[in-house]
Amino acid sequence: MTDLYDLGTAVLRRLPAETAHGLALGALSRGLGPHRKPVNDPRLATRFCGRTIPVPVGISAGFDKSAVAIGGVFGLGTGFVEVGGVTPRPQAGNPRPRLFRLAADGAAINRMGFNNDGLDAVATRLAAWRQHPSSDLPVGVNLAANADSDDPAGDFETLVRRLAPLADFLTVDISCPNTANGQVFLDPGRLRDLLARLNAVRAEAGGNAAMLVKLAPDIETGPLDTLLDIIVAAGVDGITVSNTTIARPAELRSADRSERGGLSGRPLFARSTEMLRHVYRHTGGSVPLVGVGGVASGADAYAKVRAGAGTVQLYTALIYAGPGLIGRICRDLAALLARDGFASVADAVGADHRSRPQG
Ligand code: FNR
Repeated sequence: MTDLYDLGTAVLRRLPAETAHGLALGALSRGLGPHRKPVNDPRLATRFCGRTIPVPVGISAGFDKSAVAIGGVFGLGTGFVEVGGVTPRPQAGNPRPRLFRLAADGAAINRMGFNNDGLDAVATRLAAWRQHPSSDLPVGVNLAANADSDDPAGDFETLVRRLAPLADFLTVDISCPNTANGQVFLDPGRLRDLLARLNAVRAEAGGNAAMLVKLAPDIETGPLDTLLDIIVAAGVDGITVSNTTIARPAELRSADRSERGGLSGRPLFARSTEMLRHVYRHTGGSVPLVGVGGVASGADAYAKVRAGAGTVQLYTALIYAGPGLIGRICRDLAALLARDGFASVADAVGADHRSRPQG
């Protein structure tokens, strides 16, 4: 039988991408979405940011930019949620259209430019969530500088000071391809200073928020290794690999493939997973990794775990697959872990680095 929500997804797919997303998010924020519990399988339970989560699959940044639907997003059956990117001041983002479906490729291109309601609104919503959570699972916030800021490091400080007591984790996005300030911290010296300042601010602000850094897959290996050494030395709690790519793989078929912006979804899978593999190898598995980019199935999630991810996130696959997706991914991941004799996700993390990949 057709699931009512899958039917809804089919209808939404006929609308412009951003309109459809707004409607879906609006429904989730009003409690009109599904209310699924995470899949219950002991193999899937794992540690993330100092907590035990029932499934290692979360929703990545960009889906709920202004934290309007945290409870609704958990109703998809996810183990954790990352809201944002949030900037200190509200920001309109780039002119529309700025989100494009590449349906034939299972992909999307976006140049949203960090449209969001700003720090005050998001902090208020997070505080309200803390008062009456419908789930005790981790909520993180993806942080970004305002596009017109002349002090991007100061923007990150402002965000950390206010959000550290409210969030379970904070992700410092140094990899956005879509705004002027999105990539200034790819400069090693600036990144080192930024992370030192943010560690100090976080300690002053109190709370237990973990700090993660999110990277783009477009950084060359040499500079990447330099950045990784800085990130590890700063003592971060995790690295998220990866953001969208500005690359355009030759196999893209959709009409909108040449739109400017970051490419996500299926064509990002191989590239982001290879980067994840590299980051795991370079860091010797010493830092928890969040694998994101093109995850659309249990097999994709399992490949990320074997390459080195302790948890995975997704966004674009939800555009195409509808809300039953997270449960399917989790059940299939549990079956793959069982097939290969892993008692837990943690046992499988980085397995490819210890043995030959299995077919
Ligand atoms: C994103 N992504 C993103 N990432 C981030 O760090 N901050 C952000 O504000 C956003 N915003 C955003 C908007 C839209 C419309 C999309 C499609 C994506 C990137 C996202 O979190 C993720 O890293 C990539 O999309 C790759 O994962 P998927 O989509 O292939 O599962």
